[in-house]
Amino acid sequence: MIIPHPIPYQGSKRNIAKHILHFLPKNSGKLIEPFAGSAAISLAAAYYNKANRFALNDINHTLMDLWAEIINQPEDIATKYEVIWKNQKGNERAYYDLIRDKFNDDPTSDRLLYLLARCVKASIRYNSFGKFNQSPDNRRKGTHPDTMRNRIHAASWLLRGKTTVSSKDYREVLKNATPQDLIYMDPPYQGVSINRDPRYIGGVSYEDFVESLNWLNKMKISFMVSYDGRTGKKIHGRLLPEFLGLTRIEIEAGRSTQATLLGSAEDTYESLYLSPALADSISRKSIEAALSRKKEQLDFLAISS
Ligand SMILES: C[S@@+](CC[C@H](N)C(=O)[O-])C[C@H]1O[C@@H](n2cnc3c(N)ncnc32)[C@H](O)[C@@H]1O
Repeated sequence: MIIPHPIPYQGSKRNIAKHILHFLPKNSGKLIEPFAGSAAISLAAAYYNKANRFALNDINHTLMDLWAEIINQPEDIATKYEVIWKNQKGNERAYYDLIRDKFNDDPTSDRLLYLLARCVKASIRYNSFGKFNQSPDNRRKGTHPDTMRNRIHAASWLLRGKTTVSSKDYREVLKNATPQDLIYMDPPYQGVSINRDPRYIGGVSYEDFVESLNWLNKMKISFMVSYDGRTGKKIHGRLLPEFLGLTRIEIEAGRSTQATLLGSAEDTYESLYLSPALADSISRKSIEAALSRKKEQLDFLAISS
């Protein structure tokens, strides 16, 4: 079995999940994802037995309804997706618009899954009235229902019986965390989230987020945060402040599409911040290897360690 990803989602951490998991202490108790999206880190942690309980949360209610169904009624949601997908045959373009209109009147989880499978870059976008307005990718028909069914059942198998699903603001979720938990946070891209982020419902201000991290530190709760990034020398987003005492690691996320288009060979790095409580509980060796930023080294140490 490979790690199943039933929900296509722009911004998913699936490609670098292995490197992020490397910093989960052995036998973590509960892994909490307050900004779960497609839950790439929880799926990978369940797959590699890196945690035994999971709490998925995202402010997008329909997305979390979809997660609850994937986990607890996998066959139902797989069948609903299959029905929608098959009905598009021969009329894909107009059918997408029809489902999008229906979704905007009544946002159901099966419609969301179909829209994500078919829309440009698997990127949900909302207009200023909160209506989904992303166009279809006309080159793709969306994941075949047989493949989708397999992914849904595999994800359910990994998470069922050990996962809670909620849809609240991240601060509500943090309030219930304890020092026995490990929190992984991947808030929306800062550049746009301070105002309205068309890619996501909700948003996160830098100041509020820093205040929340400071509180977690005071409570000695372990956390990891994906926040800013870098392509070559260009930093994307604002770094988290020094006073939080976080360890900032850079994870190689591959060649940036933009840089490749411009004929440059610059790689993109994503920052991963470890809280002081977490850094104390994992081996110095792991952190030093990561700080030396050698991808081969990370690959070698990842998962098996
Ligand atoms: C970058 S995505 C997370 C992607 C995720 N790590 C994955 O692998 O798919 C950020 C998520 O934060 C959610 N979000 C935005 N504002 C939020 C808030 N105030 N509280 C909780 N979730 C929020 C968005 O709906 C979005 O799904």
